[in-house]
Amino acid sequence: MIRARILGTGSYLPADVLTNADLAARVDTSDEWIIERTGIRKRHIAAAGEFTSDLGTAAARRALDAAGLASADIDLIIVATATPDQTFPACATVIQHKLGMAGGVAFDIAAVCSGFLYALSVADALLTSGAYRTALVIGAETFSRLLDWEDRATCVLFGDGAGAVVLRAETGTGSNQDRGILAHRLHSDGRYNDMLFVDGGPGSTGTVGKLRMKGREVFRHAVTNLAAVMAETLAVIGLTPADVDWVVPHQANLRILEGTARKLDLAVDRIVVTVDAHANTSAASVPLALDTAVRDGRIKPNDLLLLEAMGGGFTWGAAAVRW
Ligand code: UT7
Repeated sequence: MIRARILGTGSYLPADVLTNADLAARVDTSDEWIIERTGIRKRHIAAAGEFTSDLGTAAARRALDAAGLASADIDLIIVATATPDQTFPACATVIQHKLGMAGGVAFDIAAVCSGFLYALSVADALLTSGAYRTALVIGAETFSRLLDWEDRATCVLFGDGAGAVVLRAETGTGSNQDRGILAHRLHSDGRYNDMLFVDGGPGSTGTVGKLRMKGREVFRHAVTNLAAVMAETLAVIGLTPADVDWVVPHQANLRILEGTARKLDLAVDRIVVTVDAHANTSAASVPLALDTAVRDGRIKPNDLLLLEAMGGGFTWGAAAVRW
């Protein structure tokens, strides 16, 4: 059977850093409140003229280098983003062009903070079907451009960044000891559209709009849904939380990460945490965390990783990956 294996990871963060103290100078908040309620200490913000496609291209180049491949080896690019440079063309085709590619297929997926999990799952399906051989899956966002910088309840939570992985179709045995993507489960429930949304768009207001969120409700659903989909994904391959070496979660709030781990009886030191340094980078947060833990040596060959995310829609999902 075919397995989609991750051959390399890469990430990119814009140079400008915005600290909690910087935010406290703009809105009625404090470093103490932000750290205590979210775990966030700083976030990166894209420079004027620096677009989501630039962040995604930089992350993709680093992932290709790590995999030892060139863009000419890629036949599939999927970009998860809610902040494309333009309404269309797809950010994926912009990145395809910036990587100097003329072949292959490139398209975007919109599932907000769950976007990387959705993109990874679609790439897995397209690779394991035999239709494509080598894929770039990218999560790239400039959420700073969607924020209402006067709303202290949301502007302190997000940052910009990008992460990418290179996946290749390889032969596996079909057992849960294979290296590569072993299972994924996705969910969405549009009844909750109004809990986390942007109040504009090309087909309604003709404006970009600003992010709006009912934070407490999102928090409650996140812990419940994430714990459920993580257990569900492991059950597909006959494994349990005790088998997991590293949880690589969407980085929205440290309390969500810890609350979810507690529900599954997972030790908190098994969670890769980057929310302190990156804040919530939406679709970029899972591949940014993955790249961080791969490069610092925490993630080792044959480790079992559980990736998870939850976001606007609601959308949520998880993937089990043997490294
Ligand atoms: O990617 C997925 C999407 N996002 C999330 O997963 C985020 C989910 N939600 C959360 O992370 C949390 O709900 C928040 C961090 C957004 C808020 O934390 P909370 O503990 O749920 O606080 P709260 O919304 O219940 O607000 C508590 C108080 C309020 O004041 P009152 O009404 O009690 O007087 C807020 O007005 O904190 C106030 N507050 C702030 N105070 C200082 C809200 N934002 C701030 C702020 N600084 N930045």
